[in-house]
Amino acid sequence: MFRITPETAEDTPEVEMLFDLAFAPGRTALSSYRLRDGMAPLAHLSCVVRDDYDALAAAIRFWPVKVGAGGWPALLLGPIAVHPTRQGEGVGALLMSESLALAKTDSWRCVLLVGDLPYYKRFGFRRIDVTFPPPSNPDRALGLALTPDGLEGMTGIVYRWG
Ligand SMILES: CC(C)(COP(=O)(O)OP(=O)(O)OC[C@H]1O[C@@H](n2cnc3c(N)ncnc32)[C@H](O)[C@@H]1OP(=O)(O)O)[C@@H](O)C(=O)NCCC(=O)NCCS
Repeated sequence: MFRITPETAEDTPEVEMLFDLAFAPGRTALSSYRLRDGMAPLAHLSCVVRDDYDALAAAIRFWPVKVGAGGWPALLLGPIAVHPTRQGEGVGALLMSESLALAKTDSWRCVLLVGDLPYYKRFGFRRIDVTFPPPSNPDRALGLALTPDGLEGMTGIVYRWG
């Protein structure tokens, strides 16, 4: 059995270690992290998954960003990581589905991320015409509409909320 709960300050050191394990400690040098500089993740959407032994199995974070000249508000998904000993058990899918459902009830219109389309397309993500901070691969710029027109006309540069 897995429990999904919002990430608390007590979870954070373990979550950081899990992200380092999944992505390597140099992960914060990735250009997408510039969108998160000086910003806290959205606490009510950023979640952890724990197993029956209370061991951390996975974590996901969300951040607010803006897009294009119109300053479209959007959610930035990531990082998401599942502990290597728990990968392939459906924990990532569970965490994605639950947190996206939560985001939908929170009035956000769309979710963006930089990632592998072959993984994220199962949740409805598609390639979108926005530009993440360079260097970034346009093929990895993905979006999911949470409302019928949530991605309509969205184009331009993705930038920090603050
Ligand atoms: C990607 C990740 C979150 C998936 O979580 P998970 O719990 O292992 O995934 P699930 O059990 O829900 O789904 C497993 C499926 O996803 C596929 N998958 C996993 N990573 C993938 C990727 N990068 N590209 C394509 N498919 C991928 C698996 O092959 C498997 O496919 P199948 O269902 O056809 O057998 C996890 O593997 C992870 O933490 N990886 C390291 C960090 C990372 O890459 N994060 C995502 C950044 S883009």
